[in-house]
Amino acid sequence: MKRRLTPPATRPPAGGASELPIGVFDSGIGGLTVFDAIGRRMPRENLVYFGDTAHVPYGTKSPEAVGRYSSEIARYLDRRGIKALVVACNTASAVALPRIRRSVRVPVIGVILPGAKAAAAASGSGSIGIIGTEATISSRAYVKAVRRLRPAARITGIACPLFVPLVEEGWWEHPVTEAVARRYLAPLKRAGVDSLILGCTHYPLLKGVLRRVMGPRLALIDSAERTAVETEALLRRLGLERRSGKGVHRFIVSDGPERFQRLARRLIGRRVKVVEHRFE
Ligand code: DGL
Repeated sequence: MKRRLTPPATRPPAGGASELPIGVFDSGIGGLTVFDAIGRRMPRENLVYFGDTAHVPYGTKSPEAVGRYSSEIARYLDRRGIKALVVACNTASAVALPRIRRSVRVPVIGVILPGAKAAAAASGSGSIGIIGTEATISSRAYVKAVRRLRPAARITGIACPLFVPLVEEGWWEHPVTEAVARRYLAPLKRAGVDSLILGCTHYPLLKGVLRRVMGPRLALIDSAERTAVETEALLRRLGLERRSGKGVHRFIVSDGPERFQRLARRLIGRRVKVVEHRFE
């Protein structure tokens, strides 16, 4: 469906709508993997990231709660002024995308479809694994999206609820994380999957551990890159790309900016300024 971009409620920028940032949000730091991919692919774009650190993890919460938190953030970013919104969270994309779309006036991109497309294309044998939060796996959003593209695919989905707190703790290469991964991923090894969808934006940070556990031949599907490609294509279609200058990146969290700042620095390799916004 085509959507028209309505000007922001406050302060339209001098250079027009293309000067507005792309909004990117997740429950915590995981969406930074998508943010980083967008920033690398489109260095001219202004970006604003929102991490809902007051409510992380989303993956163990009800679809109603995830929908409420996500649409509040979407509305907040829309009011600040954005030209498109990337839901850099599989859980919110899986259970709340229609509600988020209804909450804002700008085009919304989720991460499920880009990941499903990449997996359907990458798998040779058609045996595909999906790991994600409890909410994402029980929504079956990936299963449905992959089956539409590859009806004969054999899909095994596993919820890995301990991965998000381990990533938020910064234990990306920790032996405890590896032990947890061995336990979670055993059914996928037995199923002989040849590609694995990292169905949570936190999981690309565990790529080293996942490779050690699953072996070097497995294709790890990280939707960050694909989502960046789709975002670029959307802006081009709408004539909203920013054509000159270097993009400004802003970071907002709903709680604990210092902690977020520490992890963000490790993740994107530079020091960032993080401000806090509380929803009352
Ligand atoms: N990184 C998010 C996802 O892709 C959310 C994880 C969580 O908060 O549980 O699902």
